[in-house]
Amino acid sequence: MIDLRSDTVTKPSEKMRKAMYEAEVGDDVYGEDPTVNKLEETAAAILGKEKALFVTSGTQGNQIAGLVHCRAGQEVIVESQAHIFLYEAAAMSAFAGVQTRTITGKRGAMNPLDVKAAIRGEDIHEPETGLICIENTHNKAGGAIVPLDNMKEIYRIAQEHHIPVHLDGARLFNASVASGIPVSDFAACTDSVQFCLSKGLGAPVGSIIAGAEEFIAKARKWRKRLGGGLRQVGVLAAPGLIALNENIDRLFEDHENAKLLAEGLVNISGIELETKVETNIIIINITKANKTTEELLNALYENGIAAGAFGPNLIRFVTNNGVTKNDIDKVLAVIHNIL
Ligand SMILES: Cc1ncc(COP(=O)(O)O)c(C=O)c1O
Repeated sequence: MIDLRSDTVTKPSEKMRKAMYEAEVGDDVYGEDPTVNKLEETAAAILGKEKALFVTSGTQGNQIAGLVHCRAGQEVIVESQAHIFLYEAAAMSAFAGVQTRTITGKRGAMNPLDVKAAIRGEDIHEPETGLICIENTHNKAGGAIVPLDNMKEIYRIAQEHHIPVHLDGARLFNASVASGIPVSDFAACTDSVQFCLSKGLGAPVGSIIAGAEEFIAKARKWRKRLGGGLRQVGVLAAPGLIALNENIDRLFEDHENAKLLAEGLVNISGIELETKVETNIIIINITKANKTTEELLNALYENGIAAGAFGPNLIRFVTNNGVTKNDIDKVLAVIHNIL
């Protein structure tokens, strides 16, 4: 199967599995797992943050950030197509007791003036804004890179109003590799960052959240409350370390493959690109094709290719470390035949 549904579908490499087997471990709830400690120190250093914490998933990392930064009754500003808003089952409302306030961005980037205008709290009738969230790269916007200057400006406004900024950087390393901007520059415009080890970086499990020492101390407690305090979890941190030490530059290949696929797809009749391709996500619009989304996806599946529906007449392909250039050629040939 050529699996282009997501960059979460990759399997851990042999080296990762060996590292899991050999990992030195201890009880991480006591802070005694050397492999987890190494992973957290490595991640904090790369991001330029004081401390980092290994969490079970991107969703857990984002939710812990909301819980640390906010009080119940506050409002969180997010982009209207953000993962936190669309795909985390209203967890911020369920756990942190906050409501979300959405701002429609352009290619995932909120206009800083819109953010400023949405900040509330003076009036007795209003919730206070407790947090501003940015997503980079932006999944729904087709892996779009939120420009660093946009993040800087939002952070400046947030600081003026004493409001923290959280970055859902599930694919932050994709943004960094594609733009040439170090992740620490993006992270510098935030009070907390979450990134996933288990997407393009290829680890089987886990995310990192990072921030100031005080933030992480509180985050550690919230992780415990959520049942995310794990014990000899160095077996899962070990592949995470390989992901950080060896797999960042490799994301370039996913971006190259995504470009190749996009360039080929636009030459097939009935297919239009829904968004510009900047990283590893391609969203096509097949309104003008002679097949429905379901028909095309089924036909692809019969030919050993998996992709995902992403809205009416929209299909998403995500390149990942299980996909080669030859696979891209095959995908293009198959779609050409089908349409
Ligand atoms: C932008 C973004 N944020 C957060 C998440 C959540 O990550 P997880 O699936 O590890 O909970 C995802 C997952 O696809 C994502 O795309």
